[in-house]
Amino acid sequence: MAESQEIRRNVWLSDAGGLRYHLRALQHRRRRWQVFRDTVAAWFAAWRPPCDRLVLVGPSAGHTLPLARMRGFSEIVALEPDPIARRWLAWRARRLPLRFDGIDVLSGDTPLSALQTVFPDAAVLFCNVLGQVAPAGGGHWHERLADALAGQHWASYHDVISTDVRPLAGAGPVSCDTRRLETVLERFWPGGRLALVDHETFRLAGPSQPADYALWPLGPGRWHLIEWVVHRPSGGIGRGADRSALKPPSGP
Ligand SMILES: C[S@@+](CC[C@H](N)C(=O)[O-])C[C@H]1O[C@@H](n2cnc3c(N)ncnc32)[C@H](O)[C@@H]1O
Repeated sequence: MAESQEIRRNVWLSDAGGLRYHLRALQHRRRRWQVFRDTVAAWFAAWRPPCDRLVLVGPSAGHTLPLARMRGFSEIVALEPDPIARRWLAWRARRLPLRFDGIDVLSGDTPLSALQTVFPDAAVLFCNVLGQVAPAGGGHWHERLADALAGQHWASYHDVISTDVRPLAGAGPVSCDTRRLETVLERFWPGGRLALVDHETFRLAGPSQPADYALWPLGPGRWHLIEWVVHRPSGGIGRGADRSALKPPSGP
């Protein structure tokens, strides 16, 4: 059985954006990252939110995004602070109705709440960002999402853990409804202790929502376990609903 060992949290932000990340993407996007990119494309294709507008939070230059599958939206708004990424994404998405907005929905006293007020009718895709940026004021994204976006369609792919330990050969994408992170880790890594960075995003849409997992081989000797979750608003989940079901899962 794999045992998780929490070492530190969200420490590789410089790898997640800026020049260093773009250089990695140039090097690995078409080969090392291809299987992961195909997986993200399949996740996105299955999502199909009933919205005309899509908001991308942290798309970078779209290195892992299935841009060709976004043609059905009448407007796509990208929220991305990296100027190199914005220029590159604008070029890559030149056939899409893409525009940029300077609003920062991850900061402030009530992170994410601006998504509801500024883009109430839009679906929101968090593009591998919530495992790399902690909510201002502390806490977990689980509670923030449950508070701010209960009534909105959103999906996210994000780092759950990252590690230098080589995964099992052939460990492919899986769907899991387990509430134990260790059970997911066992599908990807051999038994024993696993030195890892916990990005504190496991079961981000709540423990009752199914989740998908895949490996992102960021670079030689570095692997990220990525989770994909979807939230669809329903009468049963909303402001004032029982939020206890939306707390982050606790350890074993
Ligand atoms: C790992 S990268 C995303 C990778 C991207 N999905 C791709 O396909 O290459 C994380 C991104 O989040 C962006 N980011 C950081 N803070 C942000 C914020 N407050 N709002 C929106 N994006 C942010 C970074 O600039 C970076 O481009």
